[in-house]
Amino acid sequence: MALVPMKQILDEAVKGGYGVGAYNVNNMEQIQAIMAAAQETQSPVIIQASRGALKYSNFIYLKHLMLAAAEENPGIPLSMHLDHGNSLDTVKKAIDLGFTSVMIDGSLDESGKVPNNFEQNLEITRKCAEYAHQTGVTVEAELGTLGGIEDGHGADQIHLTDPKQVAEFVKATRVDALALAIGTSHGAYKFKAEPKLAFEIIEEVRKLLPGFPLVMHGSSSVPQYLVDLINKYGGKMPNAKGVPMESIQKAIKLGVQKINVDTDGRMAVTAAIRRVFAETPEKFDPRDYLAPAREDLRKLIASKMKDFGTAGHAKDYAPRTLKDYVEYYKKMK
Ligand code: G3H
Ligand code: 13P
Ligand code: ZN
Repeated sequence: MALVPMKQILDEAVKGGYGVGAYNVNNMEQIQAIMAAAQETQSPVIIQASRGALKYSNFIYLKHLMLAAAEENPGIPLSMHLDHGNSLDTVKKAIDLGFTSVMIDGSLDESGKVPNNFEQNLEITRKCAEYAHQTGVTVEAELGTLGGIEDGHGADQIHLTDPKQVAEFVKATRVDALALAIGTSHGAYKFKAEPKLAFEIIEEVRKLLPGFPLVMHGSSSVPQYLVDLINKYGGKMPNAKGVPMESIQKAIKLGVQKINVDTDGRMAVTAAIRRVFAETPEKFDPRDYLAPAREDLRKLIASKMKDFGTAGHAKDYAPRTLKDYVEYYKKMK
């Protein structure tokens, strides 16, 4: 098995100057599609589960599906990552399940609705990193809150990442990777007009923290062909807009390594299922629509792996274990 702490995958991506997709999953077909794409393109990969995904799968199912992915693909460095953990309890639960990496999103409070201030974010992140590192598990945090540049979150609220806060935050919390808020948001409706991102934030942070892994959430491109297919087969996604691939490639060039993608995968699955339902309404075997959905998702992810520059890097390094990282963090204390 090449189930590795995410730190190894991201540190290698820093060295190689490429991006690694972190793909959200909820079920078997999504996991199989991502792993097939990783095999085909020989890419290291991060599969991530949100709190909602873990709840949907009753925790234990997703855990075993991810472990199956690792067992079936021993030559692919793979991290099991918790996406947007909101408390130490959630982080502990993911670690108990066998996740090799966790995100503590202290940018918002536990409800996910109210922004935390810098000190609150720092404190919860520090506690989670202290706990996770004892088991060798990687920790990602977030500074700033997601949302479009034009959305405006109110003068008194945190919005885009303030580069001046980053060095202090990383030093005090000892996190392994940091998500920057540069104007992206989750979902299929990221921009009302032309996509606009604050690339200068990446540049500034990269200068301040050379070699430190950076993360971009809300990185779905919302490809027009998927919007068109969904709308053609009875869906309704008017004015959906994502981050153009060229912008993601620019972010990678400037120094982002982890690229979070959920929405595009959801759209590929939905488009395929809608197509089967519309074209062959007599079908009722779930395999008749889940297999095409899996196949279309595989193609989408394989093309992202090529576009992010991940392809061809699966065999660059020998996989390391959680135990190796327990020793690493002990030395770093
Ligand atoms: O962070 C957002 C991801 O797209 C996960 O979404 O909470 O609906 O599973 P979810
Ligand atoms: P998208 O909604 O752009 O796919 O972003 C997903 C994400 O950031 C998960 O954490
Ligand atoms: Zn996210």
